[in-house]
Amino acid sequence: MMQRETWATRIGFILAAVGSAVGLGNIWRFPFQTAENGGAAFLVVYIIAVLLIGIPAILAEFVIGRRSKQSAIGAFDALGRPRWRWVGAVGVLAGFWTLSYYSVVGGWVVRYAIGSVTGAYLGDPGTYFGAISAGPEAVAFHAVFMLVTIGIVAFGVESGIEMATKLMVPSIILLMLGLAVYAFTLSGSAAGYEYFLSPDFDALVANFESVIPAAVGQALFSLSLGYAVMITYASYIDRDENLGVDGLSIAITNTFVAVLAGLVVFPLLAAQGVDYGSEGPGAIFVTVPTAFADLPNLAARAIGFVFFFVVFIAALSSAISLLEVVTSHLVDSYDVDRKPIAVGLGVIIFVLGIPSAWDTAWLTWFDLVSVNLLLPVGVFGVVVFAGWILSADATDELGRGAPSLRGVAPVWLWSLRTIVLLAVLGTLVLSLGSLTAPPL
Ligand code: TRP
Repeated sequence: MMQRETWATRIGFILAAVGSAVGLGNIWRFPFQTAENGGAAFLVVYIIAVLLIGIPAILAEFVIGRRSKQSAIGAFDALGRPRWRWVGAVGVLAGFWTLSYYSVVGGWVVRYAIGSVTGAYLGDPGTYFGAISAGPEAVAFHAVFMLVTIGIVAFGVESGIEMATKLMVPSIILLMLGLAVYAFTLSGSAAGYEYFLSPDFDALVANFESVIPAAVGQALFSLSLGYAVMITYASYIDRDENLGVDGLSIAITNTFVAVLAGLVVFPLLAAQGVDYGSEGPGAIFVTVPTAFADLPNLAARAIGFVFFFVVFIAALSSAISLLEVVTSHLVDSYDVDRKPIAVGLGVIIFVLGIPSAWDTAWLTWFDLVSVNLLLPVGVFGVVVFAGWILSADATDELGRGAPSLRGVAPVWLWSLRTIVLLAVLGTLVLSLGSLTAPPL
């Protein structure tokens, strides 16, 4: 048997997990989901979901991974429960499915990074987004984004990306803070804070059957839960480290970036007098460039490029992690060569993404199937497995190497079995109700 690799450092593990979690989900998806689901009340449900479901579930994935020392599907075999392999299989399928449209959005980002250099979008960002987001050119940029992702996974050069991730998170935070401060100074932006931060619970009660699955789904998606990614990453942890601290730091960083994106997008929308939900998936692509438009031309291009380049790195580090789950599953289970698998899978995923690149209605539908079907099913499996099947072993594993967690571990297990399980189940039922037929 080959010696299994492990993370060289604890921070290496945390960075990889943060690199997976922080991505388009925070910067692109969170703001427009909030806008389409009523603003601040969505934010409240999202934050509750991170605390109530996200953190317990990320710990469940960590525990499964570290105890089994196996990725995705193999983890359930290694723990002697082969009948639970479906949980890993749902995760692998979700990764495959999600990357197909994630890469289309990644392609938009590449397009905007290039458009910054040429100044293409500065005149009229709204029209520009409409022109580039669907059709043959969107397919071409989807291809570019997939090629880069495939290249990195095929050659196993993720270490470079790990370094980039180290810079990425602070850069995103700094850039977003800058934009948020700028937005604050604009006249008319106050209404944006009102919308984003002052919840209207009556509207929430009226629309709970769509807002709740959207907000919980966003929390799970953003933390990369239900994809067996965190199982896989934790399977490489060698030493006894405090998983609670790791899970909390990941969740806090991730949520912080999303909220920051909201603090950029909503004031900008308000200052521009645009209806919050009207831009849909284009929200970030329309608002942020408009903020640059007031700057002298050269400065606008430079800042635009830096912004979209950093978003590109964030998207890429998540895309790599998505392709990695699927690839490493096949490589581990069938003992095959990594390169042809990564390339073959990448090509199939590219083809699967063509409809989403052709028409955003398809992108929205693919996203709905991920977030309202695959994720809640995957997370449900993880929660039941850790809470009811692993049970005392799960508590034991969480407390390993973390004396301070030993007291909390039984509470965590109890909540997994009851509150968390019920919350996930309730979400799952509501989520299934929000599924729609494909836009044929
Ligand atoms: N969390 C990622 C983001 O916010 C998206 C994502 C969901 C993901 N599931 C994943 C990334 C699994 C990697 C692996 O952009």
